[in-house]
Formats: sequence, structure tokens, C-alpha cells
Amino acid sequence: MKVSSALSSLVFLLLLLLTSVLDFVPNIIVEGGEENAEQAEDVKRSQFPDGFLFGVATSSYQVEGAVHEDGRSLSNWDVFAHTKGNIENGDNADIADDHYHHYLEDIEIMHSLGVDSYRFSVSWERILPRGKFGDVNPAGILFYNKIIDNLLLRGIEPFLTIHHHDLPQELMDRYGGWLSPLIQEDFVRLAEACFKHFGDRVRYWITINEPNLVSEFAYERGKYPPARCSPPFGNCSAGNSDVEPLIVMHHMLLAHAKAVKLYREQFQAKQGGTIGLVVSTHMYEPLTDDELDREAASRGLAFYVGWSFDPVVFGDYPPEMRRYHGSELPTFTSDERQLMRDSTDFLGLNHYVTLYAKDCIHSSCTCFVPSCFPGGDRAIRGFVSTTGFRDGVAIGEPTGNPRFFVVPRGMEEAVDYIKERYHNKPMFITENGYSSPKGQQEQVDDLQHDIKRVAYHKSYLSALARAIRNGADVRGYFIWSLIDNFEWTDGYDIKFGLYAVDRVTMDRIPKSSAKWYRDFLHNISFNHQEPRIAIPFSSAADGFLPNIKNGTAEMA
Ligand code: NOJ
Repeated sequence: MKVSSALSSLVFLLLLLLTSVLDFVPNIIVEGGEENAEQAEDVKRSQFPDGFLFGVATSSYQVEGAVHEDGRSLSNWDVFAHTKGNIENGDNADIADDHYHHYLEDIEIMHSLGVDSYRFSVSWERILPRGKFGDVNPAGILFYNKIIDNLLLRGIEPFLTIHHHDLPQELMDRYGGWLSPLIQEDFVRLAEACFKHFGDRVRYWITINEPNLVSEFAYERGKYPPARCSPPFGNCSAGNSDVEPLIVMHHMLLAHAKAVKLYREQFQAKQGGTIGLVVSTHMYEPLTDDELDREAASRGLAFYVGWSFDPVVFGDYPPEMRRYHGSELPTFTSDERQLMRDSTDFLGLNHYVTLYAKDCIHSSCTCFVPSCFPGGDRAIRGFVSTTGFRDGVAIGEPTGNPRFFVVPRGMEEAVDYIKERYHNKPMFITENGYSSPKGQQEQVDDLQHDIKRVAYHKSYLSALARAIRNGADVRGYFIWSLIDNFEWTDGYDIKFGLYAVDRVTMDRIPKSSAKWYRDFLHNISFNHQEPRIAIPFSSAADGFLPNIKNGTAEMA
């Protein structure tokens, strides 16, 4: 064990040397005229508005580890990951990136990159390990206080997500998690604990990350816990793919709006923060020029993105959904519509990919190949089938996730779509990132010299800059992710990080993309804003930063 650990450290040391030699990252060209232009454009920080937040993102479950420490309870994901066959290579997140013990180092690398903001989530299991059936866990509060304080010491703005996929297993066992309306009260309790303990320093809040993806992956496809679904979507032991995703979304949206109401009534005026919802925002383009496919692309967006955003902006589900769903689509009472309407200060977009959309109302969408995702001919999918291929040709360069392709123009299209549909409400790009395909050579490249990740970010940022020039009110951009981490059912095989993590020593190794982001961010120009609290790094003793909460010098 010791020898392999020493060897692994040596290899990483060599890679580290190599990556620092390869400081210069050239533009790369991919096929396709339009994309070429995007790749060639040398995007600059100065193309973004004053005060625009550039950041990096992670989530608690994907990086923290330490699942049995300091009063944390078991989560739905712990139980799922420890059930054989659920995660690639039998991986789990018991250790993940051990961020629980390495958070100072992680804040240090963020500081060295020069980011303005860090998007992270709290673990429900650490803060309220038994939900409403128990008390707030002081050790959980302390951990996030240390993160927040140390971020502020470095001039990094905390951007806090209250719920990002993981929740106490006890809430699953007692009432079925998000399937039950009871979870709303539990979520509001969690949110309240966060506002109360962190709100004096946190100015950016996200209630829930990707309710649309959770509804789909956990209750339609049966791929995430509690793995519920029904044919043709999958073979789960229980579930109803046509109905349950709608119920789950309904509860998530109401929980979101109730937490926002609480924040606005009791905290916002004195704490001065802003609060929003984050949605997985794919872009769709018609598979053919046929008018029916055009309608399918637009309907698909309403069913995927509008499903969450319409209620929090307009107070109800999209008319497109009402038209095609029957009584299975839940209804909001008039009080609830009022609660929902305008229940977000900003729209958070996690954007990675654009797919083709095909109409399934007038033509058959039965799947014949394994790569086809079933259910396009059902109401829950809006009678739309989506795919990354047209006549066997991929819409963009493939990545590590078989459903994600590199389509930079989609960033501009997605932002334009949201701008138009929601009257240019403020937006943040809360996630955007690249994972290399799983091949051996690609993985080596990814670790040493990830020029594809650099090209991805440059081209997506160029597209974003165009959308902003055309009037979109986008206020920030977060790279997913700071470090390689536990990519849910893909375990550690799929890597999105600017930094690699040596899984033996837990060393963080900068990739070329980390160096590119640092250089990009240091194009300071006139946009630069002074950090809120400017305490020089050298004042901290050996990486141990004092916890400044309540003026006490608690050691982190
Ligand atoms: C969205 C999710 O929020 C995040 O948890 C995930 O790792 C990334 N996308 C990449 O798939």
C-alpha cells in the first residue's frame, strides 16, 4: 500500500511538472464551419459585464466524503451506492474527494485560480440528519461556517445550494422522499436552518438543483434513488414513469416556493441576498426541417425547461403541458399559484448540451436500437424523442457522457430562449463543463493536457458573450467542476474537473484547463472588483485559517 501510494505520488509529481511546462494552451479546431469560428474566437474576461461572477461549482455529496463523521446520517445516495450494480465499477462516495478534510486546500486552489464565487451545496444529512424528526446538528453548521468564512477571507463569494440530490434516508423510509407532500415542510426546515446560520454571510442562494433531472432520473428512468419506474422506461420493482415524475416535481416546486417565501418574509430584507432555482437546461434543435419537428423542439423545451421555470415565473405549468397531459398533471390551487408566481429572483441554468428533437405525435418513435431512449411517444416526454444523432452524424463532438455533445451555439440559443420566454429575468449559468470520453488515451490527455476542456469552455463562453451582447441579462458563469468528483452512477469514471484528484493521496493536480481559467480570469482590466474582505493570504498560518464567525479565532 505504501509503495503504491509513493509510486502514485511520483507519477502525479511528474505530471504536475509536465503540466506546468505546458502552460501555453493553443486553440483547437473541430469540424464544422460555424463551430470553427466559435473555437477560434479568443474569448476574454473583459467581454463580460462589470460585476459578472466567474466561479467554479461542486456539490456536497460529490466531493465531501466523510459520510460517517460528526453526526452525519445516511443519505438516499449512500444506500443506493452501496447496493450492488448501481454505480459503475462498484464505486461509492464514502471518501469522494475527502473535501471534508481538504476544504482549506480546495479554497486555496480556488483562490489561486482567481474565481469570484464558489457554488457548493450543503448536505441535508449533516445539518438535519433526521429531518424534522431530530435536531439541527451543530457539527454540520460548524463545517459550512468554516467553508463560508474561509471563502470570504479569500474574497470568494459563497453561492449556496440548499438541496443537490442527497437527502436523509430516514425521510425516504418514513414517507417516500419527494413523492410525499410531507417533504415540503422538511425542506423548508432545512432552508430555514441555512438562512438562520449562514444568511449573515451568504448573498446567493439556490433552493433546489435540477428538479427536472431528479424527477426524470429517479422516477421516470429509475436510474437514481429511489430507482422507481415502469415500462417502457425501465424495469424497476415499483413506480409509474408516466405519473410520478409529475408528482415529484410538484412537491419540489412547492417546497422551493415556500422556502423563498420564508426567505423573503424573514431574512431577505436584513440579509440582502438573492434566491433562485437551478434547472437542467438542454437546448433542442429540430431533427429535420419539417414543421412538426420544429414544433417538437419547442414543445420539448416547454416540457423539459418550462416544466420548472414557468411555475416559478408565471405561477403555473406551461400551456403546452396542460394541452398534452390529462389529469395526471397536478394542479396548483389559486393560493398556490400566487405562492408560485415570481418565486425566484433569478433563473439558474445548468447547460451542457444541445440535442435534436423529433415529433412523436404524427410519426412512430418506437426504439429499435439500444442508444435510443424509450418513451418519446408518451405524454411525460411531450411526445418528443431526443437524440444526439442525425443520419448517424453526431450533433457535436462526443464527450464522456453519451448524451452530452459539444455544441457551443446551444449556449447562445438556450440563453436566448430563456431571455424571450421569461422576459429577460436575471440568469446565472450555474454549471457548464466538459468530460472526456472514457478511452484510455482520452483519460491520459485529460489528466495531462486537457485541451478539449479548454476549447469547450472558450467556445461556450464566446457563445455566452454573444448572447449577453444581444441583451441577455446573465450575471455569472460557473465551471462544473473545480475538481474531478463522484459523477453519480458513473462513479469516478467521468471527470469534469479543472483539477484531477489522486485517488490514493487525494492530491489535487491542476490540468491545463485550470491554468487557462486562471489566465482568463486574470485578464483583470477595468472589470476587476476588490474582494469584500481583503486579508492577505500570508496572514494565515500554514493553511489553517481562523474562523472569523462571531469574532472568535476558532481553528479550522
Ligand atoms: C449536473 C449536476 O448538477 C451535477 O451534479 C453533475 O455532476 C453535472 N451535471 C455533470 O453531469
